[in-house]
Amino acid sequence: MDKPAHYDELARQLAALIDGEPDRIANAANMAALIYQGLPDLNWAGFYFAQGRELVLGPFQGKPACVRIAWGSGVCGTAAARAASVVVPDVNEFPGHIACDPDSAAELVVPLIEGGRVTGVLDLDSPVRGRFDDDDRAGCERLVAVFVRHR
Ligand code: SME
Repeated sequence: MDKPAHYDELARQLAALIDGEPDRIANAANMAALIYQGLPDLNWAGFYFAQGRELVLGPFQGKPACVRIAWGSGVCGTAAARAASVVVPDVNEFPGHIACDPDSAAELVVPLIEGGRVTGVLDLDSPVRGRFDDDDRAGCERLVAVFVRHR
């Protein structure tokens, strides 16, 4: 299966998982698990949610992670401040990258945008340098769209 088709399938599974369930934490937890189990070569997948000028750790799969990230800091805070996805092929070359797990080599962060505001981010980490490409960015933006559209 090519990557776009794989993300199509994940988007269908996500929609089915969260259909009819209004609890955001439950849906975020299932989405993190779906991504972590469904995509190869990840060592972390999960959420940070906006609280004031910080991002606070939400549901995730992987090793324990830093709890609070200042707006504009690290890859997550940068994606939140820019309201745009950030693909980092090699975290060693991203100034200010916050190393939660020394195994992480590449990162993809997609902002959650609702009513014109950034309400959080989806963060994926991989131990494989160059793991995330434009298909992953587009695919994860699709998954996030399914999540934020859901009420
Ligand atoms: N590396 C992230 C911090 C979160 S962990 O990867 C789970 C960053 O630089 O924002």
